[in-house]
Amino acid sequence: MRIIGTGSALPKKIVTNEMLSEFLDTSDEWITTRTGITSRHVISDERLEDLGAEAAMKALDMAGLGVEDIDLFIVSNVVSEHITPGMSCVVAEIIGLNCPMFDINCACPGFIYALDMAEAYYKAGKAKNVLIACIEEPTRMTSWQDRSTCVLFGDGAGAVVLTAGDNIKGTKLKAQPDTDKLFMRRVLESTPYINKAESDIPLQMRGREVFRFAVEACTHGVKSLLDEVGIKKEDVSWFMVHQANKRIIDSIIDFMQVPADRLPVNIQDHGNSSSASCPILLDECNRKGMFKEGDIIVLSAFGAGLLSGAAVLEW
Ligand code: UT7
Repeated sequence: MRIIGTGSALPKKIVTNEMLSEFLDTSDEWITTRTGITSRHVISDERLEDLGAEAAMKALDMAGLGVEDIDLFIVSNVVSEHITPGMSCVVAEIIGLNCPMFDINCACPGFIYALDMAEAYYKAGKAKNVLIACIEEPTRMTSWQDRSTCVLFGDGAGAVVLTAGDNIKGTKLKAQPDTDKLFMRRVLESTPYINKAESDIPLQMRGREVFRFAVEACTHGVKSLLDEVGIKKEDVSWFMVHQANKRIIDSIIDFMQVPADRLPVNIQDHGNSSSASCPILLDECNRKGMFKEGDIIVLSAFGAGLLSGAAVLEW
């Protein structure tokens, strides 16, 4: 497949580190030095699905396609107010899309999982034009009393449109199932046989362990994928890495021995927006005109699961 359109949408409310330090025992200095984040967009009076619809329409506009041209719609979403139907149906109703659609919940690497699925549908002859939207609201997953998690996240949506082509050079997905390092749990309704005795658990993260996993998953995943597709790291124009922590990105630069200016960073303005992080970064760089035809772009993301994935594209 080939990406022919990108789009993104962000909540209008910007929350700075100083604003957080008004009600949390934290500081701009701690957040900036430990994460590289200075502000993030947080949903206030918007609806998540409207951000998803906006990102999707922007990607369709750039692609020059209408909703009637799309054969498959894949949405990556971790939480929303809609348990069922999925966010794909909720967004499709807004934009008037009626092709087959489904949601995936693969946490932060969701965009790469979705690319892999789009390519598989295309190769199976089941879809030619695919819309992917990553629509995330992690600020509703954390406890805003927990300084170790709520300062890290921001909300937003990123989308791409893919069509026939030979530009996805390879994808590599990996799972190391471990559900205790990064999770959120919701208690379901009581039944005559189960009493709802427990409480919901907001997002919990063993930060240092996830940090180590992230650096290892990214460096090994990217190196082995590049070997598989026969592309040297020196020939990669851009490494688009999940924006979870600037220090993770710096460690990847050190381990992989690649020039820092080939890893675009926007975490300072967004925080970690889960699976929306990669397509938002892709859209921002694309709209700045950073990509030239023929550029090799590597995408890499990691997160809850523990899942990780990498993709190599030719622009
Ligand atoms: O997208 C999913 C993938 N997620 C990630 O990749 C996140 C990976 N992990 C990380 O990015 C980092 O581990 C964190 C940013 C989450 C934490 O940074 P750290 O350098 O690993 O800090 P730490 O958790 O070891 O905490 C150091 C200290 C602790 O205090 P003590 O115990 O040393 O007294 C924390 O209580 O920093 C304290 N702390 C804070 N202080 C001020 C934790 N959060 C804050 C805060 N403000 N917001």
